[in-house]
Amino acid sequence: MHQITLIPGDGIGPEITRAVLAIFAAAQVPVQWDEHPAGQTAFDQTGELLPQRLFDSLERTRVGLKGPVTTPVGHGFRSVNVALRQKYDLYQNLRPAKSNPGIHTRYENIDLVLFRENTEGLYSGLEVYDEHHGIADSFNRISVAGCRHICRAAFAYAAKHGRKKVTLAHKANILKMAGTLMLNAGKEAAAEFPGVVYEDKIIDNMCMQLVTRPEQFDVIVTTNLFGDILSDLCAGLVGGLGVVAGANIGDDMAIFEAVHGSAPDIAGQGKANPTALLRSGLLMLEHLGEKAYATRIEQALDATLQNQQECTGDLGGRASTQEFTQHIISKL
Ligand code: NAI
Ligand code: MG
Repeated sequence: MHQITLIPGDGIGPEITRAVLAIFAAAQVPVQWDEHPAGQTAFDQTGELLPQRLFDSLERTRVGLKGPVTTPVGHGFRSVNVALRQKYDLYQNLRPAKSNPGIHTRYENIDLVLFRENTEGLYSGLEVYDEHHGIADSFNRISVAGCRHICRAAFAYAAKHGRKKVTLAHKANILKMAGTLMLNAGKEAAAEFPGVVYEDKIIDNMCMQLVTRPEQFDVIVTTNLFGDILSDLCAGLVGGLGVVAGANIGDDMAIFEAVHGSAPDIAGQGKANPTALLRSGLLMLEHLGEKAYATRIEQALDATLQNQQECTGDLGGRASTQEFTQHIISKL
C-alpha cells in the first residue's frame, strides 16, 4: 500500500479531487491518502497557508497529489505552489501534451513533453519596488547548477523513453547572461546523450513553430516563465487545460498536479473536467511502479473521451464532473 499526501486545493480542486479518489477506489489502486489542506482553504481553516502538518506528511510519504491552489494577483501572499517547489527543490516540472483520441483539435498527432525549470528564473521571488522613482525590478535568477539539472533531466528522460529530440527554448539573444547559462547547459547535456538530437530555438519563434507545426517537437526544455507559458499553449493544442497533466519532481520527492489553476469562474458548479488531475494521478502511479493500474484507468478514460456526450462542457459535452466520473468508472 502506497502512502500519498493529498492536497485537494482551492476552487475546483475539491471537486476534481473527489472524482480522482472515486476512480482510484473503483480501480482498487493500492494507495492510502493522507489529506491536508493548503493555500486559501488551509488559511481559512488553520490561519496558515502551508500548515506544518502538510510538510510532515510530505516528508514522510515523499509523494503528493495536489489540486490547484489560488494565488491572489498583484497583492497578498506568495504562491503556495512556488513555495512548495522551492522548499523541496522539485526542480523538474514535467508536462506531457499528447493528442487525445476522441478530442478533436487542429492537430491530431502531437506527442510532446515539456520540461520546465521549476525553482528559479523570474519565479525566484526576488523583487524590489523603488517607490521614489516608480521602478520595479524582478530578478531573473538563474544558476549554472539549476540549468544543468533541468537540461540533464530532459535528456535523461528522452533517452529513457526512446524519444528522438530535445529542443531548448531560450532568449539568449537578449538575456545574454541567463540565456547563455541555459544554452551552455543544453550543449553539455547533449554531449552526454549523443543518441538524442539537440536543437535550440529562440522563444518567440518557438511559439510560432508550436502553433503552426507542433508535430516537429518531441521533448522541450526551458526556464521557468517560458515553461509556464508554453505549457498552457501546449495544453491548448491537445484539448485545453482540462486534460493535461503535470508533475513536480525532485531527487527524493514528487508532487503531481494538473497544469491548470483553481478555475474560480466555474468552481462549485460541477462543471470541472477532472481529466487533468486524473492524468497527473496516472503519472504518479507510474512513478510508484504501478503502471498496470495506470493503464487500466487510462483505457477507461480514453474510452469515455471518445464519446463527446459523456464529457464535460470544456470538451463540448454536457456531463457534470460527477457524471463524467461515473462514465469512467463504468468502463473500468
Ligand atoms: P485556470 O487554469 O484556473 O483557468 C483558466 C481557464 O481554464 C478558466 O476559464 C477555467 O474555467 C478553465 N479551466 C481550467 N481548468 C479546468 C478544468 N479542469 N475543467 C474545465 N475548465 C478548466 O487559470 P486562471 O484563471 O488564470 O487562474 C486561477 C487561479 O489559479 C489563480 O489564483 C492562479 O494563481 C491559480 N493557479 C494555480 C495553479 C496551481 O495550483 N498549480 C496553476 C495555475 C494557476
Ligand atoms: Mg501556469
